[in-house]
Amino acid sequence: RRQYTVALIPGDGIGQEVVPSARACLDAVATKHHFGLEFDELDWGSARYRRDGAMMPEDGFDRLAASDAILLGAVGEPDIPDTVTLWGLLIPIRRTFHQYVNLRPMRLLPGVTSPVRGGENIDLAIVRENVEGEYSEVGGRMYRGRPEESAVQESVFTRVGVERVARYAGDLAARRRGFVTSATKSNGIVHTMPFWDEVVEQTLAAYPDVRREQILIDALAARLVLDPSRFDVIVASNLFGDILSDLTAALAGSIGIAPSGNINPERDHPSMFEPVHGSAPDIAGKGVANPVGQLWAASMMLEHLGEQEAAADLLGSVEAVMAKGVLTRDLGGDASTADVTAAVTEQIGG
Ligand code: NAD
Ligand code: IPM
Ligand code: MN
Repeated sequence: RRQYTVALIPGDGIGQEVVPSARACLDAVATKHHFGLEFDELDWGSARYRRDGAMMPEDGFDRLAASDAILLGAVGEPDIPDTVTLWGLLIPIRRTFHQYVNLRPMRLLPGVTSPVRGGENIDLAIVRENVEGEYSEVGGRMYRGRPEESAVQESVFTRVGVERVARYAGDLAARRRGFVTSATKSNGIVHTMPFWDEVVEQTLAAYPDVRREQILIDALAARLVLDPSRFDVIVASNLFGDILSDLTAALAGSIGIAPSGNINPERDHPSMFEPVHGSAPDIAGKGVANPVGQLWAASMMLEHLGEQEAAADLLGSVEAVMAKGVLTRDLGGDASTADVTAAVTEQIGG
């Protein structure tokens, strides 16, 4: 019998609502497809920080390393600085476990109307660099409270770092529609971007069957709104990929449906799956959060674990339920998180 251990971190805000939803659907799909899922439930996050002064325990990484994958909800609370919550959990996991690819697929799901013309055929994947670039640890704030007060952030792009994410994009495009768009800003202002372009170009040149282009990030944002279905794989730096993935989620109806895989392609550490959205403090605790982003992320996790049939069944069941009009408020419906969860587990059967 196939058996997997999944570290479960609901975290903050609506993470507490959408992770239990995913757990119920994962249990249903595991039973049906005859494999075992054991959850290592971790109460890490802002509540723990308030109690013990740290988002996660000191031996946290050993605990995570013992799992086959990590399923995360979200972190972030309005009254705790994001520097504490994000640098105390999310960002260190991405870095310590070399999850250097952040894979963010998007397509229009059934029952949803895209807010833009041509949105019916959105089917793309953002491959976001996930451990360096604009999110470097080099920089800081100086002279607080003085006239010369300032803040500095260095972007760090390494050849190895750009090459490996470009290779992931090339491999992925070869399995999809064979087209990579690189998001750039290489008009001589941002010093790092001509280097990004050079390394992406050199890397993708090794893929004879993959068409490639580069588009300046500002023009790309506009192009995505005007003609979203022309895109297949978009490779982007950490910050550009972050922004573009909320945009593409919105083009397909809501940020609440978007999944994210923090992938360690070498598999020498666990990968982590989470929705693209955050803790959504404005709707937390109301039972109205859309669980679809979390469920889609759970499906990506199953695929990563090698459970392709179960992964397809889970996402297919979500789509079947959406086609019947079981939609949360963000998508114009009136279903609660619990309604969607019940409909998906019933659809899975088992
Ligand atoms: P957010 O993604 O939490 O919310 C943005 C908007 O989208 C809100 O109006 C929210 O209600 C809505 N929304 C998000 N997810 C939804 C869902 N599943 N269903 C229905 N509506 C949904 O972004 P924010 O408000 O800018 O950030 C809130 C906090 O979350 C911050 O502390 C931020 O740093 C953090 N954050 C964490 C992660 C993460 O853990 N990976 C990601 C993004 C933001
Ligand atoms: C995301 C989030 C994070 C990011 C934040 C919370 C640090 O926005 O996963 O998209 O920028 O990576
Ligand atoms: Mn983001």
